[in-house]
Amino acid sequence: MYRSHNCGELNASNINTEVTLAGWVQKSRDKGFMNWVDLRDRYGITQLIFDESRTDKTVFELAKTLGREFVIQVKGTVIEREAKNKNIPTGEIEILVTEMTVLNAALTPPFTIEDETDGGEDIRMKYRYLDIRRNPVKNSLLFRHKVAMEVRKYLSDLDFCEVETPYLIKSTPEGARDFVVPSRMNEGQFYALPQSPQTFKQLLMVGGMDKYFQIVKCFRDEDLRADRQPEFTQIDCEMAFVEQEDILNVFEGLTRHLLKEIKGIDVDKFPRITYDYAMKTYGNDKPDIRFGMEFGELNEFAKHKDFPVFNAAELVVGIAVPGAGNYTRKEIDGLIDWVKRPQVGASGMVYAKCNDDGTFKSSVDKFYDQDDLTQWAKITGAKSGDMIFVLSGPADKTRGQLSALRMELATRLGLRKPEEFAPLWVVDFPLLELDEETGRYHAMHHPFTSPKPEDMHLLATEPGKVRANAYDMVLNGNEIGGGSIRIHDKATQQLMFKYLGFTEDEAKAQFGFLMDAFQFGAPPHGGLAFGLDRLVAILGGQETIRDFIAFPKNNSGRDVMIDAPAKIDDAQLKELHIKIDSI
Ligand code: AMO
Repeated sequence: MYRSHNCGELNASNINTEVTLAGWVQKSRDKGFMNWVDLRDRYGITQLIFDESRTDKTVFELAKTLGREFVIQVKGTVIEREAKNKNIPTGEIEILVTEMTVLNAALTPPFTIEDETDGGEDIRMKYRYLDIRRNPVKNSLLFRHKVAMEVRKYLSDLDFCEVETPYLIKSTPEGARDFVVPSRMNEGQFYALPQSPQTFKQLLMVGGMDKYFQIVKCFRDEDLRADRQPEFTQIDCEMAFVEQEDILNVFEGLTRHLLKEIKGIDVDKFPRITYDYAMKTYGNDKPDIRFGMEFGELNEFAKHKDFPVFNAAELVVGIAVPGAGNYTRKEIDGLIDWVKRPQVGASGMVYAKCNDDGTFKSSVDKFYDQDDLTQWAKITGAKSGDMIFVLSGPADKTRGQLSALRMELATRLGLRKPEEFAPLWVVDFPLLELDEETGRYHAMHHPFTSPKPEDMHLLATEPGKVRANAYDMVLNGNEIGGGSIRIHDKATQQLMFKYLGFTEDEAKAQFGFLMDAFQFGAPPHGGLAFGLDRLVAILGGQETIRDFIAFPKNNSGRDVMIDAPAKIDDAQLKELHIKIDSI
C-alpha cells in the first residue's frame, strides 16, 4: 500500500494516528536540527517534520538530500503543529516521520511549481506535466471534469444516450478545412477527421435513437485564436420529433442547471433575439449583453447636413459610452487610432461629449448644432457625462467596427465582469451567406440546416434573404453553442446542395449516404452542439480555452511538448503511398 491517506485530508481529529503518505516535495526548510518538508499531491499539502532528537538518524540524514519535486513515501505519526496554518485544511497537524523511501528523484523543474510561477507560456507548455502539478491548471482540469459530469448527469436523466461515432470519416462541412489521414490499405485515398459528428448524429436519428449526446473530440484546420483549438470538444446533441422550441427549452435547461450547480447562480428565462436584431443593435451575432452601449442608428440625424463623410456613408451609427465624457483629447485620439488599426479598419471616428449642463461638444460642431446632437444623444441613450462615438461607412463593415470598439471600451471600463453571466439565444440566422471572393453562397450553419418553411419561396430569387431554423447560444459575448432543425427529406436536401453549387454527382458522391438514409423513414429532427472548452472557460471566468485543456496546441497548431506535427520516415511514407517531392 503506497498510502493510507492523501495529502489533503489529515487534521486534528487524526492526531496520534500512524499514517503513510506519498507525494512530491514542494519545499523543505532545513534548520539544522529540525527539517520541515511540505509534501504535495493532487489533494493538498501536508507538513512533514524530521527532528534530530526524535527521528531515526538515517531518515533524518536522508531528508536533507531531498530536492524539489522528489517523489517520496513516508510513514509517521500525526502530531499537533506548534505554528498552525489556518489557511490550509491540514494546517493544524504535521507528520513526525519515522520511515522514508525516495520513490523517485527529480531534476530541478525549469519553473517553480507554485500558483504564481516564474515560467512563461512556452516553457510551461513544453513541460505541461509539471504545469499540471500547479493548482491553477490542476483546478481547471478538475473544474472541467465537474462540468462534464453535470452535463452527462443532466442529459442522461432526460433519456439522452451517449453514443460514440467514428473519427476516421469523410469530410463533414462545418466551414473549416479538414485534417486528413492517408489510408494505407486504400492507395491514394484519405479519411477526414470529423469537424463534428453532424451526419452521424442525424443517422442515429434515422436509426431511431431518439435522443443522442456525446462529449466528443472535433478537428478543424482553421486559424487559431484564444477561443479556438484545432482539436476541441463538443457536447454534441440531437433529438428526433422536435421543433426548434423543444430544443431551445432542453438546452436552456441544461445551461441553467450548469449555472446553478457550478456557479450557484439562478438565471431567468434566457432572452431570445433575432440575428437581424443582434447585428443592428450590437453589430455582432454573439453580443455581450452584460452592459448596454446599444447601437443608435443616426442616418436620419446625420445625413441632412453638409458633412461629406456622413453623407457618403450607407450607415452612420453610434454608441454612448457611460462616463467617458471626461476622456482627455489624448485618450480620444488614442481611441481614434485604435479604430483605425487594420484589425478594426475604420477610416476615422466622430465624437460628441455630453456636458453636465445638457449641452454638447462634438468634433463636428461645424456641421451639427445642439438640436442635432440632442437627437444623437436620444437615439444612443447618452446621458450627461457620457461620450458618443460615431462611425460611418458600408453598413456591415461599420457595424463590425463599432462592435469591436464597444467590446474594447467595455473591457477597459471593467464592464465585462467574469462572475456575471448573461446567456441568450440568437435565432433566425440567415440560411446562406455570400462568399464575396467566389461570389458563391455557402451555408451559414451547415448544409443540413432547414430553411424556415415560410421563406422557402425566396430560395430561387433572393437566397440571401432566406432565414434558417438555426440558433446559437451566446454567453458573455461568446458563441458557446449552435444548432438547427435539419432537413429530413431527400428532395429538400438535394435542392439545398444545388443552391450551394454542388452538381448532382458531387452531392451524391459526398452525401449520397445521408440522402439515401432520408428515403428510409427519417424522422423530423434537430439538435445543437456546445463547445465544451469554451463553456468551461467562461464558467471559469476566462476566455482562453487553452487553460482548460490538459495538452493544448500553441498558436501555430503545434504540441511543443511532444513536438508534433513531425516528419515521418520514408518507409512509412512509402507504405502510405505518399510521395513528397520537396523532401
Ligand atoms: P458549430 O460549428 O457551431 O456547430 O460548433 C458548435 C460549437 O463548438 C465550438 N467550437 C469550437 N471550440 C473550440 N475550438 C474550435 N475550433 C471550435 N469550433 C467550434 C463553439 C461552437 O458554438 N454540427 C454543428 C452543431 C449542430 O448543428 O448541431 C456544429 O458543429 O462553441
